[in-house]
Formats: sequence, C-alpha cells, structure tokens
Amino acid sequence: MKVVHTVKELREALAVEKSLGKKVGFVPTMGALHKGHASLVKRSAEENDVTVASVFVNPTQFNDAKDLEKYPRTLEADCELLQTYGATLVFAPSVDEVYPEPDTRQFSYAPIDTVMEGKFRPGHFNGVCQVVSKLFDMVQPDAAYFGEKDFQQLAVIRAMVADKKYGIDIVGCPIVREDDGLAMSSRNMRLSAEDRKNALNISRTLFKSSTFAADHSVRETLEWVEKAITASPGLELEYFEIVDGDTLQPVEDWGESPYIVGCITVFCGDVRLIDNIVYKEL
Ligand code: PAF
Repeated sequence: MKVVHTVKELREALAVEKSLGKKVGFVPTMGALHKGHASLVKRSAEENDVTVASVFVNPTQFNDAKDLEKYPRTLEADCELLQTYGATLVFAPSVDEVYPEPDTRQFSYAPIDTVMEGKFRPGHFNGVCQVVSKLFDMVQPDAAYFGEKDFQQLAVIRAMVADKKYGIDIVGCPIVREDDGLAMSSRNMRLSAEDRKNALNISRTLFKSSTFAADHSVRETLEWVEKAITASPGLELEYFEIVDGDTLQPVEDWGESPYIVGCITVFCGDVRLIDNIVYKEL
C-alpha cells in the first residue's frame, strides 16, 4: 500500500492503474478509522481492482471550530487499518493541497440538505459537497463507498452526483455496530466511560421503537422515542425525525412511503452522536 500526500503523486500512481483498465473504488474518510470504515474498504477491495482511501479532516464541513480542533487525527493507525482491509493507495493531503484557494462554490439540494443535519449544522453539507466533489475530480473513481450511518450525507452525495453527472456508482454500506449496539463512529473515542454507558440508550431506544412502531402511529412512535431519550441519563436529544428514506421529508403515516427511516441526533456529554433505523423498506 502506497501513501501519497499531493494530487500530483496521486495522479501519477493512478495513471498506471487506469492505463491498464483497472477499476478504481474510492473510500473518502476523515481518518480516526474504525470497523465501520473497514467494512467500506473491504467492500471496495472486493468489488474493484484498486482501492483508494483518502484521509482528510475537511475544515469546510465543520460549523463549530472547537469540533474541528477536537477531531481525532491518527494517520499511522489509520494506514494500518487501511492496509489490513485491502486499500492499495492512501491519499492524505494537507488543507492547502485540497484548498489552494478558498472554495466559494455553493451546492444546494433542497429540501434534502435543509432538514435535520442541514437545519442544525448550517453549511455542513455545502462543505461535504465541496470536498467530495474535489476528491472525486482528483481520484476519478468508478465507484465510491459511504456508510449509511450518515444517512442524510449519503442522500446529499447521491443528489450531487446526479446533478454534476459524475459517472460514479455510489454504494451505501450498512451501519456497523459495537457488540452492544452502539453505532461505530470516530467520535465514540471521545466518550468518557460514563458517557459510553449512557450512549447505549440511543441504539437501544431505536431498536425498541421498531417493535413499538408495528402497532402505533408515526406520531406515537416519534413521541415515544423523544420521551425515552429525554428520560435517559446523560443524553440530550437534538432531533428525532421519521422521514421518507429518499426525500428525507417527514412522514405522518406509515402508508405514505415504501421506505421510512428514523434519524436521530443526540448529545452525550459534549459528543454529538447520530444514528438511524429503517422502519420500512421495499
Ligand atoms: O463521512 C465523512 O467522513 C466525511 O463527511 C467525508 C465524506 C469523508 C467528507 O469529508
């Protein structure tokens, strides 16, 4: 596995592979990798000849400077994991390499990017689109792999790919959970032992709500989850929404859509965690 830091090195390494007609899979990451990322790399390695992973903490998607500062940076350990799961090339650029000039492009995919994370983290998805579009232009992959934990991010990226007519196959991969159910996240390493225990009530509540939803209305399910999280020690609910899985707009009735997902964001101490559960899928 080769590690490169500049676009020139990346292009040179990929030119050889592409001239041989090799299929390129791409896994964009911000590092602090865990088994969730490993599953994306593994899937890409199974489905492509070459797997490129990027490790870049993108400043333009953080609307909170403290959050950016606290984001874990663990390149050496990340490279070990990437090699173990089959990455062939790692692109770990500097901020200046990705943004030689400020990126003033605006991406807008309303209403997909204005609800939920879009409402609570203004500018976040614009930053995600800026960096992902730059990375797509640099790597020019055949397929790119994203986790379904960031459910709304995946929908926004699909919208961007359709809008910009990138010929890239966007592959959504299932959430990977700890044995006790907590969704894997780079932010979990910032949880204190107490917070880690409390955080468990997020996935537990979502799983139980799936049973509850079978004989209750959307409104009753919404209220049940909100009440359960609010009553959980150490958790502060930011939002819970039950939405159409394609449009991300709230649904009022289970019959309204064949694809319905519950999306949640909760503060556990000062760590912001997201998770989701599919209530209905074709
Ligand atoms: O999901 C992430 O880790 C980031 O949002 C991404 C897609 C790598 C862009 O910085």
